[in-house]
Amino acid sequence: MQVIEAFPTPENIANLQLHADGSLRHLLTLKDLDRSMLVELLDAAQCFVTKPGEPTARSQSLAGRTIANLFFEPSTRTRASFDLAGKRLGADVLNLDVNTSSRKKGESILDTIYTLQAMHVDVMVVRDASSGVPAYIARHVNDHISILNAGEAELSHPTQGLLDLLTIRQRKGRFENLTVAIVGDIMHSRVARSAAEGLHTLGVGELRLISPAALAPDPDEMPYASLHDNLDDGLRDADVVMALRIQRERIGSLDGIPGIDEYFAKYGVSAERMAKAAPDAIIMHPGPMNRGIESNRRSPTVRRRRSRSR
Ligand code: CP
Repeated sequence: MQVIEAFPTPENIANLQLHADGSLRHLLTLKDLDRSMLVELLDAAQCFVTKPGEPTARSQSLAGRTIANLFFEPSTRTRASFDLAGKRLGADVLNLDVNTSSRKKGESILDTIYTLQAMHVDVMVVRDASSGVPAYIARHVNDHISILNAGEAELSHPTQGLLDLLTIRQRKGRFENLTVAIVGDIMHSRVARSAAEGLHTLGVGELRLISPAALAPDPDEMPYASLHDNLDDGLRDADVVMALRIQRERIGSLDGIPGIDEYFAKYGVSAERMAKAAPDAIIMHPGPMNRGIESNRRSPTVRRRRSRSR
């Protein structure tokens, strides 16, 4: 018999993710983190950046700690990043294989968590298709354990959001006076939500969300952003363009969503469409990328560089 677990919708998780002194206990969402906390996290991440081919930055700051990666949804980038980051900081890292875990036999998520807690896991990195799961786990673990949200339904992907903020800061050096355009399936995108929350807190000049009407967010959800259904209008003079894939796994009905060829024609980020953006615009994509749908088969950036050098 399959056990159905009901997860509470996180309402105010600010108190849950911060210690009383304002420091981070868990990382559940970017929504409630203030500017100074975001800058502190970006500065800390920047310290670990090395050039390709150089030895990776390492420390023993997590020596003696154990991290469990609990990915109840597929992942390539996030899971590999947490695995490598944990090892490079000196932690023991456990990658739980959910396909062979006892949740498949009906074990509740809390029983799985309590079992890992008994094994002295200190940090749990959680990805789940249901909203509320990271906060639900955070409410139930012992005080010394931290929960890191590695992707929660369509709601939140805070570490991807931080990575996107860091990339923009590295390439553009600022957030003020920048125009950022996010293109694609905004309605079902946790990446778009976390990026938008972080960009808003850091004072981005203008945030545009571009999608077909059937994939647009509720207009009241991100009142600081403008909604567009025309790609050329949305891209005009943009400094940063972020393309998103259609989150097919979270879409109930395809009604109102254009077929692949029409979608690419209207919303695909190609070299030709990028001509509308600022000349030094950067293109970002969180991956996984569906080439030929939300982008060219070949990278528009490569084509732009080639066409300029002719
Ligand atoms: N961007 C991102 O979350 O990728 P993965 O699903 O591969 O982790």
